[in-house]
Parts: sequence; structure tokens; C-alpha cells
Amino acid sequence: MANSDSRVTVHMAASLDGFIARSDGRVDWMETSDEFAGGDTMDPAFVEAFLKTIDCYVMGSRTYETALDFEAKGFGWSYGDKPVFVLTSRDLPRTRTTVEFHSGDLAQFVNERLRPAFGSIWVVGGGAVCGECLRLGLADEVRYSILPVLIGSGIRFFGNLDRDVALHLVEVKAYKSGMVGLRYEVTGRQLR
Ligand SMILES: NC(=O)c1ccc[n+]([C@@H]2O[C@H](COP(=O)([O-])OP(=O)(O)OC[C@H]3O[C@@H](n4cnc5c(N)ncnc54)[C@H](OP(=O)(O)O)[C@@H]3O)[C@@H](O)[C@H]2O)c1
Repeated sequence: MANSDSRVTVHMAASLDGFIARSDGRVDWMETSDEFAGGDTMDPAFVEAFLKTIDCYVMGSRTYETALDFEAKGFGWSYGDKPVFVLTSRDLPRTRTTVEFHSGDLAQFVNERLRPAFGSIWVVGGGAVCGECLRLGLADEVRYSILPVLIGSGIRFFGNLDRDVALHLVEVKAYKSGMVGLRYEVTGRQLR
């Protein structure tokens, strides 16, 4: 079934200085203690309803390995029963039937396999895969959750971008936790 209305969203949380993890992959800095009096609260019912609008997730193998590690430590699986497509050239453990591995041409995979089958496609990391999606012009939208912390070095949100990507800001939300959520449309104009 063709789905011309499909939408590819790149989303991650990052430090104010643009890192999604420390160089060794740790995300311990994500637990921040800031309070912003004028901010919104995340309503759990809203979050639950919102997550239902996502049709599938795409991630790189290192993000998948982090997710498996989190699950093994008792923090659960963040992607519910939605299909999760893991990009990898390796033979990784498959712990649930909703996980599918893919290797090969990313543009072909997104445009010919995912877009016809899913409306809302979320690319949830890491920096290598998100950078690749933007570099190849595959993303329609970027959602960037900025956490109130600077960590100095680490893995960048958009790895290996070799060109400028023009964006149009469509939403800014500040939360009581001090997190700022930015939502941009990718305009598609190639700047250089
Ligand atoms: N802050 C956040 O919101 C957030 C979100 C997600 C992840 N993270 C963190 O980010 C770190 C992982 O990010 P990362 O940038 O190192 O790795 P990544 O993007 O998760 O995974 C990259 C790997 O995916 C595989 N791959 C297959 N096809 C690919 C393609 N077309 N483009 C790119 N990669 C492809 C390759 O591994 P193979 O060798 O398997 O082929 C590649 O090394 C973890 O520490 C994770 O915790 C943070």
C-alpha cells in the first residue's frame, strides 16, 4: 500500500552543547535537577497518546545495544510493541519479534520499504544514523530536546554532516524540568 503522507522524524535529546552521549556511550547526564517555574509539565496521558501516533522506530546498532543494556538493567523497553528497525551489518541478538535488522542502502530502505508501509516513522538515534538521514535528505522533521546541562565532549547529535541543512522552526516548548523541545521542518533547500 503506497503512503504518500508518510513522515520521517529525527528525534533525540542532547546536552546544550550538542552531545547525545559521552564518548564512551554513557547517558548519566540526562538526569538533570533543574526547575523552570514557567515551564509546562509532561502530562503522562498526553505522552501515552502521543506515542500511539508513532508507527515505527529506526535506530543504529549502537543505540540498539544501549536499549538492550537498559532493558537488562531493568529500565524496560522504550518502544512498546511498535516495529523497531535496527540498521546493522552485524549479527546482533534479537530479543523480541518486533525487532527487525536491516543492512544496505538506507535511502532505498526508507523510501521503498518504510514510507509505503508506515505513516509516522521515527529515527531515534544515534548520531551516526540521524546524521546519515539528514545527509541523504530522508528526514522531513527534526525534534531536538535540549537538556539543561553542558558535558564538553561526546557523540554529536548529527554525525558526519557534509552539507548545510536548512530548517524551519515550527514549535518551541519549555518544560518545568528545564528541557526545551524544538521542532523543525527540513525545508529541503541545499545551501552548499
Ligand atoms: N540522547 C539521546 O536521545 C540518544 C538517542 C539514541 C542514542 N543515544 C546514544 O548514542 C550512542 C550511539 O550513537 P552512535 O552515533 O555512536 O551510533 P548509532 O547511530 O546508534 O549506530 C551506528 C551504527 O549503526 C550501523 N549502521 C548501519 N547502517 C547504517 C547507516 N546507514 N548509517 C549509520 N550507521 C549505520 C553501524 O554499525 P554496524 O557495525 O552494526 O553495522 C554503525 O556503526 C549510544 O551511546 C546511545 O546511548 C542517545
